[in-house]
Amino acid sequence: MLSEVVTDALLPVYATFPLRAVSGHGSWLVDDEGHEWLDAYGGHAVASSGHSHPDVVAAIADQAAKLIFYSTAVPHAGREQLAETLARLSPDPLGRVFFCNSGAEANENQLGLARRKTGRTQVVTMRGGWHGRTAATLACTDGERYEAGARRAGVSLSRKVPFNDVGALEQAMDDTIAAILLEPVQGFSGARTATQEFLQAARSLCDRHGAKLLFDEVQCGVGRTGTFTAAEQFGVVPDAIAMAKGLAAGLPIGAVIAVSSLVDDIKVGDLGSTFGGGPVPCAAALANIAVIEREDLLANVRTVSEQIVSEAAKLPDVVRVHGRGFLLGLELNRPAADVQRALWQHRVLTGASTDPRTLRLLPPLSFAPDEAALLLQALRAVLV
Ligand SMILES: Cc1ncc(COP(=O)(O)O)c(C=O)c1O
Repeated sequence: MLSEVVTDALLPVYATFPLRAVSGHGSWLVDDEGHEWLDAYGGHAVASSGHSHPDVVAAIADQAAKLIFYSTAVPHAGREQLAETLARLSPDPLGRVFFCNSGAEANENQLGLARRKTGRTQVVTMRGGWHGRTAATLACTDGERYEAGARRAGVSLSRKVPFNDVGALEQAMDDTIAAILLEPVQGFSGARTATQEFLQAARSLCDRHGAKLLFDEVQCGVGRTGTFTAAEQFGVVPDAIAMAKGLAAGLPIGAVIAVSSLVDDIKVGDLGSTFGGGPVPCAAALANIAVIEREDLLANVRTVSEQIVSEAAKLPDVVRVHGRGFLLGLELNRPAADVQRALWQHRVLTGASTDPRTLRLLPPLSFAPDEAALLLQALRAVLV
């Protein structure tokens, strides 16, 4: 099993998995020795309809052959259809869409919209929250190394409150706050789920103080929790949602889906992105969403998640299973990194988290019952 990056030309920014990928299909990656790996990390939560779904591949090839790119300066049907699709699939009255290229950029833009609308700067975010690596999103992300990056850029840090602590949130809110930014299901912190009570309190505190409620669904959105948006499971409608990762099943895309009152004064030139809303990522996203709907992948997420949660909870060393749908965190009573490494011997990929004892599972939405059984079998073999 080869893992090292073999060139110094590439900065060593991620801890790498011990394979060199050559191809992928569904929940599987194929390495350069022809071995198949079960991808319960879902291509970094991106391969929502699986790796290289034939419909997504065909849509990309078809669009690329017709027109690879023009910016939003030239209207394009695919961009308009995708905006309408996201509006249709998001809770009312979320329905105005801005496209960019990544999760951080989507968060940066929704923060910018909230600051623009309120004329305020300060933001409240959560302990355990993770929002990206631009200066503004680093300032909102929990963790000294991220906050240090924002400080170096001269950006003031968000006010961070313990997740699900209504009292602390009330304390942090006042009439200088532009927005609360949070993940309804925190990803990197180990799939920690917001309580309904906490999200309802966040909504009413924003309303009381004239602030905007922003959901970061970059990781938990696009069906990963078993509904298209995570928001709809909590009966709370934010002023905007950021999506990215799973939206185009692997092509770079980010989207802010906002309520009209947040964006009603946006004029030509106020927002922009050369590549945002490009024809090829939009075609990939439309094909990906069509697969999710046609193959009823949200129902698959819900049923197969139940299978994983109920079986995983019985495993030795599993203290608790966190999360929803296919954003799960197995809290263990031993280091998750050891378990993650041991699973490599079974050619199974899983994710780490900022909690050293939580192993993160983010399989493709198409992860089938027999694939879940293989994952559980590998976990059973490792957690003895
Ligand atoms: C919840 C959340 N927000 C934002 C981001 C940043 O997204 P990107 O890496 O596309 O900028 C991530 C990436 O992991 C994420 O999980």
